[in-house]
Amino acid sequence: MSLRFLTAGETHGPQLTTIIEGLPSNMKIDFDALNFQLHRRQKGYGRGRRMQIEKDTAQILGGVRHGYTTGAPVALVVENKDWTHWRNIMNVEPIEGNDEAKRRVHRPRPGHADLNGGLKYNLKDLRNVLERSSARETTVRVAVGAIARQFLEQFGVKVAGQVIRIGEIEAPPHSLPIDELIERTEASSVRVVDAETEKKMEAYIDQIKQEGDSIGGVVECIIEGLPVGLGSHVQYDRKLDGRIAQGVMSINAFKGVEVGIGFEAGELRGSQVHDEIMYSEERGYYRATNRLGGFEGGMTNGMPIVVRGVMKPIPTLYKPLQSVDIDTKEPFTAQVERSDACAVPAASVVMEHVVTWEVAKAFLEKFGGDSMEEIHANYQNYLKQLESY
Ligand SMILES: Cc1cc2nc3c(=O)[nH]c(=O)nc-3n(C[C@H](O)[C@H](O)[C@H](O)COP(=O)(O)O)c2cc1C
Repeated sequence: MSLRFLTAGETHGPQLTTIIEGLPSNMKIDFDALNFQLHRRQKGYGRGRRMQIEKDTAQILGGVRHGYTTGAPVALVVENKDWTHWRNIMNVEPIEGNDEAKRRVHRPRPGHADLNGGLKYNLKDLRNVLERSSARETTVRVAVGAIARQFLEQFGVKVAGQVIRIGEIEAPPHSLPIDELIERTEASSVRVVDAETEKKMEAYIDQIKQEGDSIGGVVECIIEGLPVGLGSHVQYDRKLDGRIAQGVMSINAFKGVEVGIGFEAGELRGSQVHDEIMYSEERGYYRATNRLGGFEGGMTNGMPIVVRGVMKPIPTLYKPLQSVDIDTKEPFTAQVERSDACAVPAASVVMEHVVTWEVAKAFLEKFGGDSMEEIHANYQNYLKQLESY
């Protein structure tokens, strides 16, 4: 059985819930490291008040005992701290009262799932759509990715993320080692490596916010320390780059994904794109460059994985956009009480975890075993095979 998870829960419901199945036994769970990743998702310049109200914490309710996985499904929940204010509105039991008491939504917001979901599920209260389509769900996707990260770290794998662009402001390229990249982005309010870009991005977000607008951007995830051969060329749904792309595109507001130089490859010649194959006693086979972002034939090639995703601007803006009331069919312009102007730094953390999850899944498919000991043995055996190739 391969690694899998499902999530459930609403943005103003009591909690988000996930069950992860397929984790091996005897994997140490670092609870602080897990919560650290959840806190990283909540930070970032341009985010609103809710992130300050709620400091997310994961609770594990099954599948872990005395700090180690048992091989059973891991049940994990993250409580919504302001649930108390929504207890009645989100009650699972029928409640008395009018639309006001139920906070019924009949005005679909452009750029959100509201109208499509209402039509598809025949729901006249669009709250039933927006509560689930909210990016709050990415909290538990970070949690499952954080567990996947802990698994991969035991094999020396490192994961980093950075913001490449926020609107008009692009971070200059650099070639920092991954540890330094992690350290510098962690210290930055917008998850970039240099202070000048950070200042420019902050000022830009302020300006966008003042204008009642929102802004998106581009984020990048880098994973180092993976062996050659995760994923496979033999079948479409085993190509790891394809699976990563699906994961990234499933993140709220993500509109595009690229691996390595991605879309730029369409402008360049073959000689400017392909990475030449080299060999040394020390490194074995490697590529002289990494323009293809660690993938050839849907398989890792031993170079770092480099994936970028583009996030559209947040659709809820103070500057009202036109829509149509589903009760009256009359046009209206949306009034917004509270919204973030930019969630790109947070989205960068989400993408890290989504990519990490897909990689961990492929890792387990290749070296699969029921316990960590078995997986380590399989992994070591494969490394020996590569050495003698
Ligand atoms: C980390 C993160 C935070 C987000 N925060 C908001 C927000 O505060 N307001 C909003 O309107 N959309 C926000 N979004 C985007 C919406 O969730 C998303 O655009 C919406 O669910 C529609 O999905 P789609 O854009 O993928 O079609 C956020 C997305 C992410 C990844």
